[in-house]
Amino acid sequence: MRNTGSITVTKLHSLFGAEISGIDITRPLSAREFGPIRAAFEEHSVLVFRDQPMDDDKQVAFSDLWGNCETTLSANPAAGTKFARQSNLDIETGQPIPNDDMRMIYQKANYFWHSDSSFKKTPSLCSILTARICPPEGGNTEFLNMRAAWDALPPALQATIHPLVAEHALAYSRDRVQKGILSAKALAELPPVKQRLFQDNPINGRRALYIGAHAHHIVDWPEPIGKALLYELAYRAEQPQFMMSHAWREGDVIVWDNRAVLHRATYYDATKYKRLMQRTTIGGDRMTVPQ
Ligand code: SIN
Repeated sequence: MRNTGSITVTKLHSLFGAEISGIDITRPLSAREFGPIRAAFEEHSVLVFRDQPMDDDKQVAFSDLWGNCETTLSANPAAGTKFARQSNLDIETGQPIPNDDMRMIYQKANYFWHSDSSFKKTPSLCSILTARICPPEGGNTEFLNMRAAWDALPPALQATIHPLVAEHALAYSRDRVQKGILSAKALAELPPVKQRLFQDNPINGRRALYIGAHAHHIVDWPEPIGKALLYELAYRAEQPQFMMSHAWREGDVIVWDNRAVLHRATYYDATKYKRLMQRTTIGGDRMTVPQ
C-alpha cells in the first residue's frame, strides 16, 4: 500500500490494477486531487474505486476530468447520450428484457476480449463503468494486461507486427454473435478503420499489444493469413497470469485504459437477476495510424 497525497493506491495484481481509496469521486475534484489519480491510471491501467454511489450527473462530472465523453451511437439503447448502457433492464420500463431479445444478443459480443472504440479513427483513452445494480453472482468484468502480452511475444514476432495495420469495425465483433445485427444506420456511422497492432503510453513509454474482437484482418495481407495472425496474437495474450477478474459490488467504479488492456463481460443469469452498469467512454487524442 502506498500513500500518494490524498489517495491510497493498493495493487490488485502483480502486473496491473490498483484500488484507489481515501477519496470521494462522487463530488467535484480539483486538478490537485485528480493529478495522483491520473498518474495511477498511467501506471496501473485499471483503477477500482469502492463505495462511490454514482448517478448519471456525478458520473459525467467525474468522466469530464479525463477528456471528452464519446456520444453513444445508434446501436446502444442509450444512443445520443454519453452513456453506453450495459443492462438486462429495459431503459423505459426498468423491466427485464427477455434473453432472446436482440438487445440481449447484441450485448453478448461484450463477452469477447475487446478495447472500447477501437473501431473509431481516434480510439478511446479509457472507459468508466459504474455499478448501479449488481447480480449476487456472476457478471464479473475481466481485464487482460496487453503490456505483458506484448512483452511476452518473441522478438521476431514483435518485429513482424511492428509495421502492420489491422482493420477494425464494430460490425466484425457484432457479426460473431449474430450476422447482420447492426442496422444500416449503425453501419453507416461506423465504417472500418485502421489501427496499429500496438500502442505506446505517452507518459511512461510502455508498449501494449492492441488487438481485440473488433480487429478483423491485416491491411494489405490476404484475409485468411491476416486473420490467422490475429488469432495467434489473441491466443498468446489470453494467458491466465495476464488476467484480472472483478466481482462487482454496487457503488464500485472502474476506470480502465483502453490503450493498455482488453476487457470482457462475463455470464450472469439474466432470467433471475438484474444488472445495470453505466459506461462512459472517453475519447483519445491521437490516431494510431493516418487514416
Ligand atoms: C463492456 O464491455 O464495456 C462492458 C463490460 C461489462 O458489462 O462487464
